Amino acid sequence: MGRTGKSIVRANIEEVLSDLLKAYADEWLAHYQYWVTAQWIRGIDADTLRPLLLKQSEDELKHAEALAQRIIQLGGEPVLDFSKLLETSGCGYIAPPKDPTDLRRVVEDVLKAESCAIKFYNKMVEKYRETDYVTHEIFEDLLKDEVEDEEEWEKIYSKL
Ligand SMILES: [Fe+2]
Ligand SMILES: [Fe+2]
Repeated sequence: MGRTGKSIVRANIEEVLSDLLKAYADEWLAHYQYWVTAQWIRGIDADTLRPLLLKQSEDELKHAEALAQRIIQLGGEPVLDFSKLLETSGCGYIAPPKDPTDLRRVVEDVLKAESCAIKFYNKMVEKYRETDYVTHEIFEDLLKDEVEDEEEWEKIYSKL
């Protein structure tokens, strides 16, 4: 990033990077969780749920992209070693249920991941409001998306 771009960040850059990396790992793990669950599920409603999971998975990958670009802009590196993703993440990874027909569990797990993201991004929006406007705005965009996601998945859950 340019000198001025960096100089306007009043937050500690290492701390910003650590928060961005945590979010980046969370998004990647959510992306994978939703994608692999879409492959795995079976049962009458699975064909309805599958495209929704795949779309959601794609959206989380876009979130990871936005975070990766900001990380690089601030002079950091996204998680380059795949095996470090889990330890970097804040929300962790929820494996799909052993029973591929347990679709209520699937949606409960999506809701858990979304809820964790909402809580974390809400904290981040608050934290960087005055000290890093660009990072603040990224977290704000993600927060809006996750709030919408949760609402959508709650509707899906109520129909299962
Ligand atoms: Fe996300
Ligand atoms: Fe989400």
